[in-house]
Amino acid sequence: MVRRGHPTVGVVGLGYVGLPLSLTFCEAGFRVVGFDVDPAKPAALAKGRTYLKTVPSARIAAQVRAGRLSATTDFRKVGGVDALIYCVPTPLTHHREPDMSYIEETARATAPYLHKGMLVVLESTTWPGTTDEVVRPILEAAKGLRANRDFHLAFSPEREDPGNEKFTTARIPKVVGADTPAALKAAVDLYGAAFQRVVPVSSTRTAEMVKIYENTFRAVNIAMANEVKLLCGRMGLDVFEVIRAAATKPFGFMPFYPGPGLGGHCIPIDPFYLTWKAREFDFSTRFIELAGEINTSMPYHVVERLRGGLADLGKPLRGARVLVLGVAYKRDIDDMRESPALKILSLLDRAGARAAYHDPHVPRLPRTREYAFDLASVPLTARSLAGFDAAVVVTDHAAVDYALVARRLPLVVDTRNVFPGGGRNIVTA
Ligand SMILES: NC(=O)c1ccc[n+]([C@@H]2O[C@H](COP(=O)([O-])OP(=O)(O)OC[C@H]3O[C@@H](n4cnc5c(N)ncnc54)[C@H](O)[C@@H]3O)[C@@H](O)[C@H]2O)c1
Repeated sequence: MVRRGHPTVGVVGLGYVGLPLSLTFCEAGFRVVGFDVDPAKPAALAKGRTYLKTVPSARIAAQVRAGRLSATTDFRKVGGVDALIYCVPTPLTHHREPDMSYIEETARATAPYLHKGMLVVLESTTWPGTTDEVVRPILEAAKGLRANRDFHLAFSPEREDPGNEKFTTARIPKVVGADTPAALKAAVDLYGAAFQRVVPVSSTRTAEMVKIYENTFRAVNIAMANEVKLLCGRMGLDVFEVIRAAATKPFGFMPFYPGPGLGGHCIPIDPFYLTWKAREFDFSTRFIELAGEINTSMPYHVVERLRGGLADLGKPLRGARVLVLGVAYKRDIDDMRESPALKILSLLDRAGARAAYHDPHVPRLPRTREYAFDLASVPLTARSLAGFDAAVVVTDHAAVDYALVARRLPLVVDTRNVFPGGGRNIVTA
């Protein structure tokens, strides 16, 4: 049943972040109204059906049946909620600058239905200052209501890790920041009723910076692992063996692993939100730039290793048939946003290779902002492999028969250590 005394929560943007968040509030007894501009999402939810691999239909259906979860494209219903949380995308523009358009549109679409006493929280990852400098003026302009006098405004970074069963949404500590004690209390009370631990911080800007710092920390450390990989390659050392042994140190070390380049909605993008904002303060974020440079060069490195491996077999890359194994940006998920596989496919295309891909979780390559491949996943059988000159392991999905690939193909380029210790026809990259 819906718990008495709990406010109704509105969640705007029902994607990888908004849907699990909505369910977390429902499971804590809240009534949740989800809002999305894509009508397919409310339609699927009304039928108790999922559209994300990482969220089971049964979890949705239980909340719809209990009358706690509903979803709509009709923003007038914002007038009926007590707290409103924005979980909309924050990508980069073609010029690799923050694209605020989703946040701005959401604020504009919901502002007319703002009411006194309401709590509005931004969860999208963004540069420090966004809540105060972008969201607040739009909300205040619509009806003359003032933030933190007539309604509360807060920022709470999303730390969702899709597919991570150990840390479900409610178990991940929730950082919350607001610019007045009353707004902070309202936000802490809301999240405290659904999350196991809330971590209050002193301002929206601090909370915004926390999230970008976390993601920059990952980007920089992955870049360092990638650089060490390149050096190990030259020195004839196995970087994975080095990291495995280093990780036995019980303090002061945290393992990060090299790969074919960064992927996903967050790590390749978020640090550049900070770089952009830092310019306003005459500050250059050198670690971020260097990490970006190294991580961006990785797909090129992979293709060069492939070119070298093929040359050793007396075959040019031009005209070679190459199978890319895995296009999702990480193992066992179906999300291919910003995946390095896309860059590798486009480099192969540019080099005149004939590329195909296999990914058990991505049956067709959807069109993205940058790429429009007309490709579908090819089956992985002894017969289908016969047509290929080489494979490149980009994502280490568990459901791929790597041994079969290594038996059938003259060359396999391994970026994920799926062949620990290597092999006769294995080239690491
Ligand atoms: N995916 C993650 O693992 C993750 C983790 C932490 C933080 N984040 C951050 O959370 C935010 C959302 O990311 P996501 O992965 O959930 O994105 P997503 O693309 O999966 O979902 C966004 C949803 O918002 C909807 N939408 C777009 N414009 C809208 C509008 N004007 N009004 C209402 N709905 C709108 C889209 O239709 C979509 O359903 C981003 O800022 C992202 O950086 C994502």
